[in-house]
Amino acid sequence: MRSLTRSLCVAFALLAPLLFLAAALPQDDAAPASRFAGKTVVITGANRGLGLEFARQYTALGAHVVGTARKPEEAEELAATGARVLALDVTDDASVAAFDEALGDGPVHLLVNNAGRGSRSLPEGTSRAERARVIMDVNTLGPIRVTEALLDNLRAAGAGATVANMSSYLGSIGENTSAGSDGYRESKAALNMFTRSLAIEEREAGLIVIAMSPGWVRTRMGGESAPLEPEESIGGLVGVIEGLTAEESGRFWHHDGTELAW
Ligand SMILES: NC(=O)c1ccc[n+]([C@@H]2O[C@H](COP(=O)([O-])OP(=O)(O)OC[C@H]3O[C@@H](n4cnc5c(N)ncnc54)[C@H](OP(=O)(O)O)[C@@H]3O)[C@@H](O)[C@H]2O)c1
Repeated sequence: MRSLTRSLCVAFALLAPLLFLAAALPQDDAAPASRFAGKTVVITGANRGLGLEFARQYTALGAHVVGTARKPEEAEELAATGARVLALDVTDDASVAAFDEALGDGPVHLLVNNAGRGSRSLPEGTSRAERARVIMDVNTLGPIRVTEALLDNLRAAGAGATVANMSSYLGSIGENTSAGSDGYRESKAALNMFTRSLAIEEREAGLIVIAMSPGWVRTRMGGESAPLEPEESIGGLVGVIEGLTAEESGRFWHHDGTELAW
């Protein structure tokens, strides 16, 4: 039954842009295409790659998207989606505080902690400890900083407000049979632990907190050989997020709607 529900959610995500167009036709009693239609969705690292695709899909579903970029003045593709563009470097406390201030006190219904850095982004010869430090600052401490800053906004959105942390199957300890990508694996495994703890802490407040894996996707980080296009991967994750229940909080979801081992 659960896998049937998940399959329906993923199918929904793939059809979401069409459903949104249908919803945009003049029908007084048409149901919204998404539970985030008319609601605020914040996406970090939304100027390119998977974050940009999230922004495209949520604006198409009628959400008020706030997309962040380190260089907002260069985020033309993000601005073209209709999203509000705000500056944010997730490694910089002052930048997080300025972002929080610019966002204001309004409710945030969905926070997608997407901004991330891969292990190949550091120069050859960088020590293992330095690689881990730099990558964890973005991939682990980044989502912790941003979520902490936005917690009141998320609570203000009430039960069902969601924090979706972009992890990776490379962060799964149970699935690690090949090693490699050191620093990156550690960063996502620690993000997973943050996800699980926050889900437990915020259960009473009704917040849903998940970790998610997009698969291997063709972006600057994923590279040209990746088998998945952003549209397919993010379409799947949008469907997963759409169908989440309170009982499914604190778990690790793959883009195809299956669950991953921690
Ligand atoms: N692609 C894959 O196959 C894959 C697989 C598993 C998980 N993921 C995860 O999915 C997420 C998005 O990856 P992607 O493939 O879209 O990567 P990408 O194309 O390299 O994009 C990364 C995004 O993160 C932003 N970013 C990096 N450092 C930042 C910082 N300090 N503060 C704020 N933003 C920062 C980048 O901004 P700039 O443009 O300013 O650098 C960019 O917008 C990451 O968390 C990644 O780990 C990706």
